[in-house]
Amino acid sequence: MNLPGTPPRRLIVAITGATGAIYGVRILDMLRKLGGVETHLLISSAGWLNIQHELQLAKDDLHARADVVHSVRDVGASIASGSFATDGMIVAPCSMRTLASVAHGLSDNLIARAADVTLKERRRLVLLVRETPFNLAHLRNMTAVTEMGGVIFPPLPAFYNQPASIEEMVDQTVARVLDLFALGPALSPAWQGLHSGSAD
Ligand SMILES: Cc1cc2nc3c(=O)[nH]c(=O)nc-3n(C[C@H](O)[C@H](O)[C@H](O)COP(=O)(O)O)c2cc1C
Repeated sequence: MNLPGTPPRRLIVAITGATGAIYGVRILDMLRKLGGVETHLLISSAGWLNIQHELQLAKDDLHARADVVHSVRDVGASIASGSFATDGMIVAPCSMRTLASVAHGLSDNLIARAADVTLKERRRLVLLVRETPFNLAHLRNMTAVTEMGGVIFPPLPAFYNQPASIEEMVDQTVARVLDLFALGPALSPAWQGLHSGSAD
């Protein structure tokens, strides 16, 4: 619960044009299920292309998952200013183009500007970068964002939890991402060790 006068918990979620639009959608779904977090959604044009191609999701269905939806062209939006308090920002998935823009502080659309603000205010920025293989520009840009305090979080699935479906695999990653924001009790179960309970 917030103290009187303190801003609500807020997260900015951006979906850009890398494959894996489902990560952004599941983040919104999980935040809605958790409750108590105001979500601000941004979708790039290439992000829309991928959402339609990969998920066949209607715009209204996606918009309904967020509290506020901003146009990427609206660089005058609330989230373009550091004075608008947020808990941070997640870009899921994050294209190499958006990564480059963030790494170089271009602020050339509201996604890059909100990420720039998140970094300058020393708030948490998590980029679910998606490309393979990487070239040197990608690697250098990831290093630059890390040096500025951002978290590079490629959505690489883990197999030790034996996911039974793509949804489970995605949700395991989403839980790890949201746990970085300490929104409440951990969503991702703690690893108990391979031989828990056995001394041998
Ligand atoms: C079907 C499809 C899949 C794509 N997958 C990726 C990807 O995995 N990673 C990436 O960096 N770019 C990918 N791209 C290219 C980006 O969408 C493109 O570079 C775009 O300019 C990114 O713009 P944005 O950062 O504003 O979303 C893909 C494009 C399409 C159409």
